[in-house]
Amino acid sequence: MSQKVSLTRYLVEQQRVDGLIPAQLRLLLEVVARACKRISFAVNKGELGDVMGAAETQNVQGEVQKKLDIIANEVLIEANEWGGHLAAMASEEMEGIYVVPNRYPQGEYLLMFDPLDGSSNIDVNVSIGTIFSVLKKPDDHPGVQEADFLQAGARQVAAGYCIYGPQTTLVLTVGDGVAQFTLDREQGSFVLTQENLRIPEDTKEFAINMSNMRHWDTPVKRYIDECLAGKEGPRGKDFNMRWIASMVADVHRILTRGGIFMYPWDKREPEKPGKLRLMYEANPMAWLVEQAGGAATNGKERILDIAPTKLHQRVSVILGSKNEVERLTSYHTEK
Ligand code: AHG
Ligand code: MN
Ligand code: MN
Ligand code: MN
Repeated sequence: MSQKVSLTRYLVEQQRVDGLIPAQLRLLLEVVARACKRISFAVNKGELGDVMGAAETQNVQGEVQKKLDIIANEVLIEANEWGGHLAAMASEEMEGIYVVPNRYPQGEYLLMFDPLDGSSNIDVNVSIGTIFSVLKKPDDHPGVQEADFLQAGARQVAAGYCIYGPQTTLVLTVGDGVAQFTLDREQGSFVLTQENLRIPEDTKEFAINMSNMRHWDTPVKRYIDECLAGKEGPRGKDFNMRWIASMVADVHRILTRGGIFMYPWDKREPEKPGKLRLMYEANPMAWLVEQAGGAATNGKERILDIAPTKLHQRVSVILGSKNEVERLTSYHTEK
């Protein structure tokens, strides 16, 4: 039987082979993976644990927090604050940054996360996940402040997600392709199950929340109308639609079999560029998608090139199969 490669062994070999993963980053990724394992166990308790339903609190996004939003956030903070690999953390569920307390050594990395993505699916037993992104702390000044996080997505040193579905699966890139690890519950460890995930350049599957159609901008309306026209229309082929409302699940499907995912700007809240958050949703997912041969734009420019100005800023997201993302992006620039 072929030897199963654990996450640790994979990271050690990647570190040895191409130096992409210094020891501190390897430790960081193993700690995040262990935290995701703990979150997975909490998720899997469901009604048997005190993890379902809403808390009485709101987050900085103005969303009513679910109990699991808070639990997952606490698990990630507690797991990462003492290891000496991080200087600070930022989360969808916290307004400001969380600086590692003085009683612990400060590291050179910054960790951002969406601790529980797809919160509206928690109470209905549909796949949810955790999304994370790692940056290097600038070394031109002592200490750490919020501005240190405001780096373009192209400067990430690691990005990934863990999806809590029928399997618990960690998907990760450090800039050398995308690898997938499935949680072996008997051993309690993540095992390498896919290397070098690739997204087909073409697809017949699109993901968008159709209920927002009347609010979309013209390019998106045109693109979706053409998909809906099927083989009799200008695209000359029939399309299928999926919308899980957990970005991690929609992106996992696209990394596995292709597709295009869109959460575009719409006129419901015209002052907001989109619903999804740049630093801990769009950037990590955009890097994973590009590392797997796909594309990710905000309709006008590459998501990874966007210079952030605020920690929780939102962005319009179009990502997935390269040829479809380029087509829809071209409709925006034609406009
Ligand atoms: P979160 O649960 O972390 O707030 O993110 C939810 C996001 C994303 O996961 C998903 O693609 C999108 O919201 C779904 O939005 P709609 O409910 O408007 O379809
Ligand atoms: Mn999210
Ligand atoms: Mn979330
Ligand atoms: Mn949320």
